[in-house]
Amino acid sequence: MTNKFKAAPYMERANDILSKMTLSEKVGQLVLFGSMSQLNMDDMRQGKIGSLLNVPDVKTANAMQKIAVEETRLGIPLLIGHDVVHGDRTLFPVPLAGSASFDLEKIERAEAVAAKEAYHEGINWIYSPMIDIARDPRWGRIAEGAGEDKFYGSKVASARVRGFQTINPDTGKPYACACFKHYCGYGLSEAGRDYEACDIGERTLYGEYLPVYKAALDAGSMSCMSSFNTLNGIPVTGSKKYLTELLRDNWGFEGLVVSDWESVMELIYHRVTSSDAESAKLALSAGCDIDMHSGVYSEHLEALAKEDTELMAAVDRAVLRVLCVKIAMGLFEDPYRDEDNEKYFLTKEHREASRSLAESCMVLLKNEDGTLPIKRDGKKWLLTGPLADARFENMGIWGGRGNPETIVTIKDALEKESGISLEYLKGCEVEGNDRSGMKNAARLAAGCDGIIYVCGEPCQWAGEGGGRTDLSLGALQSEYLKLLSSLRKPLVTVVLTARPLAIENVHSSSRAVLLGWQGGVELGNAVASLLMGDKSPSGRLPVTFPRSTGQIPLYYANLSGGRPRWKYPRRYRDCDSSPLYPFGYGLTYGSVEYSKVTLDKERVTRGETVTASVSVKNTSDVKVSEVVQAYFRDVVSSVATPEKLLCGFEKIEIEPGEEKNVSFTFEMSDFAFLNEKLEYTVEPGEFMLFIGADSTTENAASFELV
Ligand code: BGC
Repeated sequence: MTNKFKAAPYMERANDILSKMTLSEKVGQLVLFGSMSQLNMDDMRQGKIGSLLNVPDVKTANAMQKIAVEETRLGIPLLIGHDVVHGDRTLFPVPLAGSASFDLEKIERAEAVAAKEAYHEGINWIYSPMIDIARDPRWGRIAEGAGEDKFYGSKVASARVRGFQTINPDTGKPYACACFKHYCGYGLSEAGRDYEACDIGERTLYGEYLPVYKAALDAGSMSCMSSFNTLNGIPVTGSKKYLTELLRDNWGFEGLVVSDWESVMELIYHRVTSSDAESAKLALSAGCDIDMHSGVYSEHLEALAKEDTELMAAVDRAVLRVLCVKIAMGLFEDPYRDEDNEKYFLTKEHREASRSLAESCMVLLKNEDGTLPIKRDGKKWLLTGPLADARFENMGIWGGRGNPETIVTIKDALEKESGISLEYLKGCEVEGNDRSGMKNAARLAAGCDGIIYVCGEPCQWAGEGGGRTDLSLGALQSEYLKLLSSLRKPLVTVVLTARPLAIENVHSSSRAVLLGWQGGVELGNAVASLLMGDKSPSGRLPVTFPRSTGQIPLYYANLSGGRPRWKYPRRYRDCDSSPLYPFGYGLTYGSVEYSKVTLDKERVTRGETVTASVSVKNTSDVKVSEVVQAYFRDVVSSVATPEKLLCGFEKIEIEPGEEKNVSFTFEMSDFAFLNEKLEYTVEPGEFMLFIGADSTTENAASFELV
């Protein structure tokens, strides 16, 4: 199903405006300026700037719109962009975390809240969703996406686009224009180094990495951001192949393309151009409509286009795209926002949406002997660790307009709501050499019945430029973990992070491990309600957690290889080659049993569907939320295909003793792969359909495609 943005309804009006524009005004529409302190108001008044980024508040946004609408010759309103990556004022769990909810409604709702708050800041263009498939957690930006899988990533991408472009009932127009990014292939940054070259085989690129962008486009995103990187040697911002042939000619994108920050100018650093003028020409001709802040379009396009009729036509095409989006957004009719805007932010309802997503996305990674939930039995717990009471560190990777004061820490929440008695000691910092705080741990723990250790990554460590070569907890936090585990008290570890970590030591030393992520403003409340069992953990990993950084990249959808049963199955001398926690993994406070998979047919023809079913029984005495996951394997095909690929999921709640049937119906095209000629094809033969609790499930049934 597609809900693609269509430019046609806006074209007549856009053409009418275009016909009145000077070349300088046209180029102005292709210029995005990102620094308010250097903004030249004369340029603004002459219509030389069509969009802005980093506008600090609604008053400034209105003032800028006023200049554009009332003081320029043609009165064209501005696109005002911002990175609303996990909420505006009401911070939500970081995108990778939110994705672990496997709850598309909550994800969409989060972005609707974000877009609504952004709207009241004067922002009308959101540089999100970031949907790059990423399988290398050394890359800090893995935190901004939905993980490693294209099927799930595509669903999340669509949900986020729908959320951002939620219709404002007052205007009948979207609150914001979404901008999926970073098109394309940026998630492959070599060795996790940001801004690095991305090289990948065509089958994997087209089969595993590109479908997410198409999904965002099909969901109606009105804009897209071209990425900084080279893809197989071609800088995407200057690539006609990706920006025009694939995106527009093949996929039918009719929205606008904006470059990433200064990536037009950076073509010169890739050494595919030798002057700024050449960069301007290459990027615009490739299909990059707006130049984000590099100034190269504003400086060179006018002179270049005067001499070059093809480039002149490219300018017109790009301007029409920008105008169509501005018209579709209703900016001509509604450019100003209410300046008395505090009432729109951090409302009870918005906080509830953030808490609800946080509670749904936290993942119970281990729970030995039913250590969790913590009983309200008067026992005393030592709460300790560098992130237990850290507001700023827990704002998340793109805290944007958020305020650390709005973050509820785990300490705040446990003190207020848990009803357990609590001793608190920070113990140590996230890194460094100061061990003085650890000294008191043994003494305090002696008077307690258990320990809650809150550790992980502060928000500054991940996100853009947040590459790491070692994904362990780090020396200091690991040393403290060792000390705490030697105290022989039940140890519950809460890991706060925006990316997968290699935390085998946490797993082996703790009785229970809860992954709390960077969980947004309601982090503490969500963790507390899960620790206390007021809510049941229901998140599942959208990305594999390795045992060691050296295993990376490690993901579930790998090829079988020619020696899967070879006599050295461990494949490393110094590490088990399996993940610490596989894709799709997560525990609950109860237990469930899956029946064997049954199929409605054993032989299927191309035009038919096949339905796979299981019943899932709650065998415990507590309600559980289960993410029932379906995977398929094309048993024999003309090219090697992944061992398993996710093809369906459903999050269900099951009462104690209850048994629920879950069915997934598939078309044969759901099992298509790219053949040697890179054409999507489905070949006859045996297919296996797996249904289970995570990507390691072997619960399967087979059918024959005839
Ligand atoms: C990032 C983008 C972001 C842009 C504008 C760039 O450095 O790569 O994701 O949207 O800055 O802030």
